[in-house]
Amino acid sequence: MQLKDKVAFVTGSAAGIGKEIAVLYAREGAKVVIADLNKQAADATAAEIVASGGQAIGVAVDVTDEAQVDASVAEAVKVFGGIDILVSNAGIQIVQPVDEFSYADWKKMLAIHLDGAFLTTRACLKHMYAQGRGGSVIYMGSVHSKLASVLKAPYVTAKHGLIGLCKTVAKEGAKHGVRANVICPGFVRTALVEKQIPEQAKTLGISEEDVIKKVMLKDTVDGEFTTTADVAQVALMFAAFPTNALTGQSLVVSHGWFM
Ligand code: NAI
Repeated sequence: MQLKDKVAFVTGSAAGIGKEIAVLYAREGAKVVIADLNKQAADATAAEIVASGGQAIGVAVDVTDEAQVDASVAEAVKVFGGIDILVSNAGIQIVQPVDEFSYADWKKMLAIHLDGAFLTTRACLKHMYAQGRGGSVIYMGSVHSKLASVLKAPYVTAKHGLIGLCKTVAKEGAKHGVRANVICPGFVRTALVEKQIPEQAKTLGISEEDVIKKVMLKDTVDGEFTTTADVAQVALMFAAFPTNALTGQSLVVSHGWFM
């Protein structure tokens, strides 16, 4: 049990990568807050964890809404008595060439990926600092925190930006024993990616099979997708690491796509 009695607040954890992280954390002894826009799905994920012997609650939150973020973190603290781990994971994808991107979609992307990360970090740090027992902040970046991509200007911009936020939190948090790191996964076949495959096929004028082989997996060492389980293992390592030695880092988990 690497996370026994730790409290983890995981955004966007009703589905996909976040859900896998929440389930693994609970298996490792953490009390997990499933914080998601989709309250029904968050409650269902929490119920699955509880049914298998873990501790979890679902809370409704739109990570772009300051009041909702503060209220959901306060609720988590009330129920579980503190916060030790934040996984800032909630995200969406919108693909368009830069010259066709609407300003509204640009702002929506930056709001979820960057404002959401800032707001949840601020709300959780206050509790971590006050508790005086350290903590771990984990951002869900992407290979696109390090590499360019066509059609994804705000995503690439925001995912690069998370590295800056992470490094600042690592510097400021060190004296409180709070670490911050970024996970940078390659393509994982969640709903977010399944939606992109036909969209990219249409925009690029190629088949869905070619989007997978010639765009998504082209530069991996073995032509494989990264899995939610791969990403969850890295999230566990960052959460459980015992000292400030591992902070301010961004780790790519992508079958060697970026190395
Ligand atoms: P997903 O679509 O399977 O799950 C995303 C979850 O976030 C959903 O439960 C959704 O309800 C929630 N969500 C969306 N907007 C929200 C908001 N405003 N407030 C609170 N919750 C919200 O997506 P997936 O693939 O699991 O993505 C999770 C994170 O991983 C995202 O930040 C994404 O950019 C990142 N990522 C995903 C990769 C992939 O290939 N799937 C690769 C690299 C990074």
